[in-house]
Amino acid sequence: MARWATGVAVVTTHDDSGDAGLTVNALLSISLTPPSLLISLTQDADTTPVIHRSGSFAVNFLAADQQPISERFAQALPAVEKFRTLAVHRGRWGAPLLDGTLGAAECRVVAWTPRYDHVLIVGEVVHQEVGRDGAPLLFFRSGYAHADGTDRLRLSPPKP
Ligand SMILES: Cc1cc2nc3c(=O)[nH]c(=O)nc-3n(C[C@H](O)[C@H](O)[C@H](O)COP(=O)(O)O)c2cc1C
Repeated sequence: MARWATGVAVVTTHDDSGDAGLTVNALLSISLTPPSLLISLTQDADTTPVIHRSGSFAVNFLAADQQPISERFAQALPAVEKFRTLAVHRGRWGAPLLDGTLGAAECRVVAWTPRYDHVLIVGEVVHQEVGRDGAPLLFFRSGYAHADGTDRLRLSPPKP
């Protein structure tokens, strides 16, 4: 999978315990009618049970200059630390939507399928926002990559 280039998103959610979120790149568009997508989350992630309880989540598509946010949400940090000083606004179902992204899709959970050590979660889009018209943050060869304009890719140096 290190040879598969992807974008990077932060999945966020909210329940009585507060906000939660994690960095993902296992993200798939399923259908346009209705608009729906799939994420694959490790069962170990602190965010996974929060999505189960809330029945909803948001996918925030990161811009190239949001690599620090990706790094923060990929760490084993208390959720409150992940959101500290981060500008967010609320989606229709209460999920925190990160400011400054390329866009966001807020979803209600319509399928929850545990497989191996992950759970496949299908979400039907209930609210969407188009954000900045900037370059995306990319992930390739186990590292971050950045698009230079639309036709050139700048790769991080390979890991030793
Ligand atoms: C680029 C990148 C993509 C990731 N994609 C996923 C993913 O699709 N699913 C997943 O469960 N974890 C993924 N992770 C790992 C989680 O972000 C990480 O385990 C995080 O600490 C979980 O946070 P939590 O336990 O607070 O929910 C990814 C990490 C990175 C850096």
